Parts: sequence; structure tokens; C-alpha cells
Amino acid sequence: MRSSAALLVIFLLLQPSFFFDALSQTDVTTAPMEEKEKQALYYTIQGFVGKLWNGSELYPDPCGWTPIQGVSCDLFDSMWYVTTINIGPTYDNSLECSKKAEFSPYLFELRHLKSLSIFNCFASTNTQQTTIPADNWNKLSSSMQNLELRSNKGLLGKVPHVLGQLVNLQSLVLSNNSLTGELPRELGNLVHLKRLTLSGNQLYGNLPKSLGATLAELLILDISNNHLVGPLHSSLGGLTSLLKLDLSNNLLNGSLPLELSKLKNLTLLDLRNNNLSGAFNPSLLEWSLCKTWSSQTIPLGKL
Ligand SMILES: *[C@@H]1O[C@H](CO)[C@@H](O)[C@H](O)[C@H]1NC(C)=O
Ligand SMILES: *[C@@H]1O[C@H](CO)[C@@H](O)[C@H](O)[C@H]1NC(C)=O
Ligand SMILES: *[C@@H]1O[C@H](CO)[C@@H](O)[C@H](O)[C@H]1NC(C)=O
Ligand SMILES: *[C@@H]1O[C@H](CO)[C@@H](O)[C@H](O)[C@H]1NC(C)=O
Ligand SMILES: *[C@@H]1O[C@H](CO)[C@@H](O)[C@H](O)[C@H]1NC(C)=O
Repeated sequence: MRSSAALLVIFLLLQPSFFFDALSQTDVTTAPMEEKEKQALYYTIQGFVGKLWNGSELYPDPCGWTPIQGVSCDLFDSMWYVTTINIGPTYDNSLECSKKAEFSPYLFELRHLKSLSIFNCFASTNTQQTTIPADNWNKLSSSMQNLELRSNKGLLGKVPHVLGQLVNLQSLVLSNNSLTGELPRELGNLVHLKRLTLSGNQLYGNLPKSLGATLAELLILDISNNHLVGPLHSSLGGLTSLLKLDLSNNLLNGSLPLELSKLKNLTLLDLRNNNLSGAFNPSLLEWSLCKTWSSQTIPLGKL
């Protein structure tokens, strides 16, 4: 054994080219990726971090040996595609957003994109006003499961109704931005949603009836800290899976619908700082008191 190992060493010493050939062979093995996909990724990220960022130079093999912080990929038919993009100051080495951050239309060419998260990117000091794109989301409708745009004080405008085309979404989080307008009833099309969090914006108008009617898988509904008005519709009782309902700090009025007592799995109900009143049916009152006693996490507020 020993002598053959020694022989091999001598062989390698005498044949340096054999050794280096082997090395360069592995060097050129990049993760196979359509050129179109690669370019779409570079342009998408450039939209957020600025034109000076040169993806093809810095990250020639983004799904292989030059991974980009916050980007992950997966194999589909032996080609690599981008599945996750996280932008924002989450890690020390995260890419930094530019003052001109924007949604590139190339985002919608990433046809296997499952999860997009943009945190603290569009600042109120941005030199241009940014809104959530109002079209093209249909191109991502079969892949997208998670959309999270959080703490972007420079993100203005409405929640576009086309988000209702992302029919495979399980989580939609649009918290702590500067979104206004009424909630589109098309959100009721997102029948696989487990989490809908729209807290901390300037949303107004009524809570669409469609939400309660169709979102039977919803576990978390949080639209706290907005300007929602009007009474709560009895269709809320259709959110039978709900664990957490937070509508605190809005301008809701009227009486609580009795149907809320259908939400048997609710462990947190926060309706503080609204103008809800109630001719309460004893059973609802009993139910809510019972919940209040069994858990400190149910501030029912002004009843
Ligand atoms: C990025 O760098 C490559 C290689 O240096 C160059 O050919 C290309 O034009 C640059 N692209 C941009 C957008 O600056
Ligand atoms: C929104 O901001 C508030 C206050 O800064 C914070 O407590 C909350 O956790 C934020 N919510 C999300 C979902 O980021
Ligand atoms: C409520 O919770 C129980 C226990 O976790 C679960 O088995 C049941 O399916 C839930 N009900 C609904 C309507 O989701
Ligand atoms: C709720 O508020 C609106 C607007 O202020 C008012 O028109 C309506 O009568 C109120 N409804 C109830 C039930 O208090
Ligand atoms: C709350 O409702 C009462 C009675 O309907 C009304 O007098 C009061 O102005 C309302 N408060 C707010 C903040 O809307």
C-alpha cells in the first residue's frame, strides 16, 4: 500500500498538468442555469440595490459556487432556478438597498420564485416614490407562496387587487409600510392563506366581506394599527381555523357579530382602541370572558 501511495505522489509530482487539469475541470462546473433566468436575477437585485452592483461580475454562478446572500435556488428538470429572494438588512453581509430602490419588471420573469421578502428597503428618504407593482403578479401565481414587504416607510399607494392572483400564497405580510386605500376584495381569492398581516399602514374603508367568506385556512389575521371603519361583518365567523385576530387601533364601530363565537380555536382576540359596542348575546360574553380568564392574551378592549 505504502509503496503505491508513494508512487502516486511521484506520479503527481512528475505530472503537474494532470493535477491542474483535474482542478480546472471542477472549477468550470457551474450550476446549470438558463441565461435568461440568470439575467432576470441580476436585474431584479439591481433594481433594489442600484445600478453599480454588477451581478455577472461578482456572482457569475449565483446558484452554485458564488451564492448571493439572501438568494436560494432549486433544481427543476436539472436546471437551477431562483426560489427565494430576501432583501434588507437581516445579516451583516446583506446587500444594501439604494436610495432609488425599485421593483424591476424582471422580478416577474423568475418563474419558480416561491418567496420574496423585502425588509427595510424602501426608505421614506427614497428619491423616488415606490408602490407595489399593479400588474404581472399573475406570472408568479403558480409558484409564489410567501410575500413579505415589511417596514418600508417609503412604500406608498394601494394594496393592488392583482395580488389576488397569487392563489397559492400561504403568507402575505405587508406590515409597517405606508400603504393606503381600501383593501381589495380580491384578497378573498387567496384561499390557501394561513397568515394575513397588514398591520401598521394607513388602510381605510371596510374589512371586505370576502375575507371571512373564503379564507377558511387562515390562522392569523392582523390588520391592527390602520384606519378601518364600519361594523365587523358576520362573515368573519367563517374564519373557522383562526388562532389570532388582531384588529386593534382602528376606527371600527357597531356591535360585535355573534358569529365571532364560531371561532373556537381563537387564542388571541385583540379589538382594543376601536369604537365597537355591543348588545352582547350572553353566550358570546360568556365565551369571551371564559377566554379572557383562561389566557392573559385576550384584551377585548372597550366592550
Ligand atoms: C458587468 O461586468 C461585466 C464584466 O466586467 C461587463 O461586461 C458588463 O458590462 C458589466 N455590466 C454592468 C451592468 O455594468
Ligand atoms: C411593526 O412595527 C412595530 C413598531 O415599531 C413593531 O412592534 C412590530 O413588530 C412591527 N411589525 C412587523 C410585522 O414588523
Ligand atoms: C382547531 O384545533 C384543533 C386542535 O388543534 C384541530 O384539530 C381542528 O382542526 C381546528 N379546527 C379548525 C376548524 O381548524
Ligand atoms: C359608525 O361610524 C359611521 C361614521 O362615523 C357612522 O355613520 C355610523 O352611524 C356608525 N355606526 C354605528 C353603529 O355606530
Ligand atoms: C364612538 O361612538 C359613539 C356613539 O356612537 C360616538 O358618540 C363617538 O363619537 C364615537 N367615537 C369615535 C372616536 O368615533
